[in-house]
Amino acid sequence: MPINEPTSSGKNKLGLTLPEVPKDSSDQNHSENGIPDVCIERLQEEFNQLECTDKQKDRMEEFFKAKRAVGEIKQDDLVNIYELGQGNGGVVYKVRHKPTDKIMARKIIYLEVKPALKTQIIRELKVLHQCNSPYIVGFYGAFAVEAQISICMEYMDGGSLDLILKKVMRIPEHILGKITVAVLRGLSYLRERHRIMHRDIKPSNILVNLQGEIKLCDFGVSAQLIDSTLHTFIGTRSYMSPERLEGAHYGIMSDIWSLGLSLVEMAVGRYPIPPPSMHDIDNLFKEDPLGNRSRPEGFGSYKGLAIFELMEWIVNEAPPSLPRSHFSSEFCDFVDRCLKKSTTERADLNTLLHHSFYKRYETESDNQEVSSWIRQACGSDADTINENNNRRSGSAM
Ligand SMILES: Nc1ncnc2c1ncn2[C@@H]1O[C@H](COP(=O)(O)OP(=O)(O)OP(=O)(O)O)[C@@H](O)[C@H]1O
Ligand SMILES: [Mg+2]
Repeated sequence: MPINEPTSSGKNKLGLTLPEVPKDSSDQNHSENGIPDVCIERLQEEFNQLECTDKQKDRMEEFFKAKRAVGEIKQDDLVNIYELGQGNGGVVYKVRHKPTDKIMARKIIYLEVKPALKTQIIRELKVLHQCNSPYIVGFYGAFAVEAQISICMEYMDGGSLDLILKKVMRIPEHILGKITVAVLRGLSYLRERHRIMHRDIKPSNILVNLQGEIKLCDFGVSAQLIDSTLHTFIGTRSYMSPERLEGAHYGIMSDIWSLGLSLVEMAVGRYPIPPPSMHDIDNLFKEDPLGNRSRPEGFGSYKGLAIFELMEWIVNEAPPSLPRSHFSSEFCDFVDRCLKKSTTERADLNTLLHHSFYKRYETESDNQEVSSWIRQACGSDADTINENNNRRSGSAM
């Protein structure tokens, strides 16, 4: 059901809508010839401007060597290993690229659109070849076969933060600090280098790996793809800002709201609208003082609001916040600034990049702490992933 249709049950009294996508948002220079000739020296120059650490540079160089070996991807070259998850628009599989033995994530989006439109989407997606940052999931290529658009990307073996949150009760503040740094750097990169906003910041679009890297995926690079999938929303949660739900003009400030809401959810271990009671939060901290216990079956489940009630709540009620009794004042202030309903009061990207919460975590370039925490959160899954990865890297290329 399209999200903006009024319902017969009288919900959506405010007539909230999902606004049209601005057509100029991904008006980039497209490479017509598939994979651009990725030159390691040019990349090195780019990395220097991006202030990457040596480790980040090494990993990205490794990715580009693998990408060069993969070349143009054909459907017949890919073998499904298993399904990683499903979203509104499609399904994501872990796949193996037979000619190189490279493991990738392949997102398949089913679209019944005219061939010309599909060609345009594939052309627009090629901008992803130019999105090279340690905070953005790597892109191998995209192709269309019949009603399927496939997007092949770097496989992140820790999965997405929504999956992690199904395994643990909550994500501790110091890990959320690192997540915040990665997300803000990813958003800055997209804005500064590509003049685009993300549009879909939420825990399932923040991916992690066992090396402790944190990266964004699924940002709105193709206006046509956004347009074509706009009416497929069937979720029960929304990370959209009040102004976006109201159909007003929206921009990068909307991503900031989505980041704030995601941080509150990950900190308290539950989607925070309607907000959990103080009693629930006290219980959570009593059960899990250090934030590393695995989530018992059914923990944190609650009766959610129907989607239009939820949207009305976001637009009309006070925004969620973090209790100062359990989180540092810097963290509480950071999310408060992200979750201002009025965009004029909400902090912009630059302000957040100077906020004391960001500053506290920005200098620690070492991913070790995040890596250990993710390994612990993934538990026995991490051992299996590790074993598989070692086997693969031994035989890859
Ligand atoms: N590159 C990747 N590496 C590993 N897992 C991935 C990758 N991309 C996606 N996934 C997994 O696949 C799941 C489904 O992704 P998908 O983008 O289709 O849906 P979503 O993000 O949950 O929702 P939506 O469609 O609303 O964006 C994600 O939740 C994530 O766990
Ligand atoms: Mg996604």
